[in-house]
Amino acid sequence: MDTTTTTTVLPNNGGRRRLVLLPLPLQGHINPMLQLANILHSKGFSITILHTRFNSPNPTNYPHFNFLSIPDVGLQNHSLSDFANVIRLVHHLNTSSLHPIRDCLARLMLEDAGVSCLITDAQWFATQTVADDLKLPRIVHRTSNISSFLLFAAFPLLRDMGYFRPFSDQELKSEAFVPGLEPLKVKDLPKFLTSDPVGSCELLELMVQATKQARAIIWNSFKELEEAELPTLRHGFSYPHFLIGPFHKYFPASSSSLLDQDKTSISWLDKHSHNSVLYVSFGSLAIIEEYQFLEMAWGLANSKQPFLWVVRPGSIQGSEWLESLPDGFLERIAERRGYIVKWAPQQEVLSHPAIGGFLTHSGWNSTLESICEGVPMICSPCFGDQLPNARYVCDVWKIGVELENGLEREEIESSIKRLMVDKEGIEMRDRVLNLKEKVNICLKKGGSSYTSLEDLVNYILSF
Ligand code: UDX
Repeated sequence: MDTTTTTTVLPNNGGRRRLVLLPLPLQGHINPMLQLANILHSKGFSITILHTRFNSPNPTNYPHFNFLSIPDVGLQNHSLSDFANVIRLVHHLNTSSLHPIRDCLARLMLEDAGVSCLITDAQWFATQTVADDLKLPRIVHRTSNISSFLLFAAFPLLRDMGYFRPFSDQELKSEAFVPGLEPLKVKDLPKFLTSDPVGSCELLELMVQATKQARAIIWNSFKELEEAELPTLRHGFSYPHFLIGPFHKYFPASSSSLLDQDKTSISWLDKHSHNSVLYVSFGSLAIIEEYQFLEMAWGLANSKQPFLWVVRPGSIQGSEWLESLPDGFLERIAERRGYIVKWAPQQEVLSHPAIGGFLTHSGWNSTLESICEGVPMICSPCFGDQLPNARYVCDVWKIGVELENGLEREEIESSIKRLMVDKEGIEMRDRVLNLKEKVNICLKKGGSSYTSLEDLVNYILSF
């Protein structure tokens, strides 16, 4: 039975070696995978994107790729909210979609173009078995950074040390370092460890194990940023690591957005002076409670700093969008030069001269995009890798401040002042501008990412 559907047909491989890329169907994973696909296409490979129909990328934005959709077993007519959390979605994908993926790959391998290599998101851990069965080299793309991956790789050890149990309120705020994982603190351990320990830990351990069995990892990061973590990484994963990022700097503006990006954000920013606006966004997955949303609203309004705020519909528990704001509030923040949109062209926003700071959930894409544009951050991580990301932003790279007490109006207001007005904010901006310069250098001929990309191309050609 043919279980795949071709949505776009690439007329001709033109003698290019074919790579099959399989993104996880979530915004923060689709963006870097499609950017990677563009990078590899520019290096002469033919690209086939294997994707679920759930959160499908838009093939018309990529006429140079071939798109194959796999049936979403059990996902028809579902949205992410039906899955309670991302962990359950990832479990579901890894258990229910393997046969169709296998059939699809086997069929592609029989075609004249064959398949040189399968590149999957690390969270598609079960595809390692498929690749082994088909004797197809599999390379993993990890969408987070190295330090958070090392934390996940240390889970068995952390379990032995007794960290996998419900934490007391005091432990949830503990400043103690996690032994062997400094600068990470006990409070940075992913919060899901305490609420849904079995499912999430199992999943991350499976992801790490399957990543160990792959041929190599491609990182959306750059050597100068994560140099200190490389020896530990190479010790645990002794195969090639390609740090070729930041991906989005190779090609301008993302066309892989699943939501419509409100371009009025840019015309609104055009009216503001240099470094004066705070950009606020919590990415594509985080959901906050209504009281937290109201604390944010008051903190932003009271700061008297202009702000551009992305409030994603569905991101406030129990609300469609802004209806929980008190009467007259929108008029009030409009006077205070606040602007709210449902989804923004984030990379364009961050590169706008008016942006002077970013209040973020510390997703890895957002963090990297902010670094690339020299924008310092206020970090309020929600779950998973966002907690270690925030620790590195604040304590290692020192390019941001952390909201120590979660979303609370006074602290939001004072952090905005620290970041956008005070001397320490100016020093953070200097440091992040220094990193931005390092990004520019690493992508140029002879730079670390440039060279690593050449190595990756040669590595794939050696299969
Ligand atoms: C999550 C994790 O937090 C992240 O660390 C992991 O690597 C991927 O999954 P997400 O919540 O989506 O990601 O955040 P983030 O990684 O920051 O990615 C969000 C993406 O959406 C970014 O590329 C950003 O540019 C884009 N975005 C966000 C928009 O295009 N418009 C917006 O308004 C907000």
